[in-house]
Amino acid sequence: MSDQSAFDTDVWTLTRFVMETGRQAKGSTGELTQLINSMLTAIKAISSAVRKAGLAHLQGMAGSVNVTGDDQKKLDVLSNDLVINMLKASYGSCCMVSEENKELIVTPKDKRGKYVVCFDPLDGSSNIDCLASIGTIFAIYKRISDAEAEPTEKDALQPGRNIVCAGYALYGSATAVALSTGAGVNFFMLDPGIGEFILTERNVRIKPKGKIYSLNEGYAKYFHPSINEYLKHKKYPEDGGAPYGARYVGSMVSDIHRTIAYGGIFMYPANEKSPKGKLRLLYECNPIAFLIEQAGGMATTGTQRILDVQPEALHQRVPFVVGSTDDVNEYLTFVKKHQ
Ligand code: AHM
Ligand code: MG
Repeated sequence: MSDQSAFDTDVWTLTRFVMETGRQAKGSTGELTQLINSMLTAIKAISSAVRKAGLAHLQGMAGSVNVTGDDQKKLDVLSNDLVINMLKASYGSCCMVSEENKELIVTPKDKRGKYVVCFDPLDGSSNIDCLASIGTIFAIYKRISDAEAEPTEKDALQPGRNIVCAGYALYGSATAVALSTGAGVNFFMLDPGIGEFILTERNVRIKPKGKIYSLNEGYAKYFHPSINEYLKHKKYPEDGGAPYGARYVGSMVSDIHRTIAYGGIFMYPANEKSPKGKLRLLYECNPIAFLIEQAGGMATTGTQRILDVQPEALHQRVPFVVGSTDDVNEYLTFVKKHQ
């Protein structure tokens, strides 16, 4: 008997999915498709580098410090170069913002397209040397300046609601990608055999309520009383219900992927030491907020919808609370009580 039935001969690869979605979009020129595919090629290369980091001597410090003062790791530098070079070569970008570059990265004139890409090439880099999961995050916008003009920071300082495509890659026990072009969220898994991402879950929906809370509770001493009161409520529910489980990888992409898959709440709130929280609006919070909303969840600073925040600086930080709607709304009742 032939075992051909074990093979799916009509596979939905991510490349096919992106091409198909592009074809269906009105007035599409294929430029966004090309840009997304270039981003995915960079992600595959990063995944491959992550998988052999120890063997290829990519662990450890690169000896430099990035714009927000973190030590850069070799993998950070490599991932950043890969993304920048692939995006420039796609002919779809006019400028970029990277966590690793202080200034706006402007694409050479002869390679420019109409999109702006904000990205964190390797998020959770404190987890590299202990082999916990790490990720890549990105958001794509249409430039607002004239096509012939020199791109400026203004092109990148757009509120998250203008995003045309956002995604993340998670280099976990497998390499996964979550992607949204504004019509729901889809999950893909890298098949190393063919070097392609395969569609594994269409139109992913986040549960309205979860059973897990996720934050760095070690900073409780510095939290606002509303947060500590909320956390107490999760551990000792007044209605006598079951307490929530606690999970915190310390790699946002992992914590977010779990939150989308299982439901619950992820938070990096402001604290006395970091009055605006830690996470950066343009390339960490906005893309994740877009994906979470596309999956039916909520993302807030505590006082404002994340996607409505008007950015003022490339590396601006915001308090970040995301996840299942009931959980985020419940957190907001504690915020209101303390206002
Ligand atoms: P990074 O971009 O320097 O890796 O920092 C972002 C990471 C997030 O992935 C994670 O949620 C957070 O930092 C963890 O910070 P902390 O160690 O303060 O809990
Ligand atoms: Mg980061």
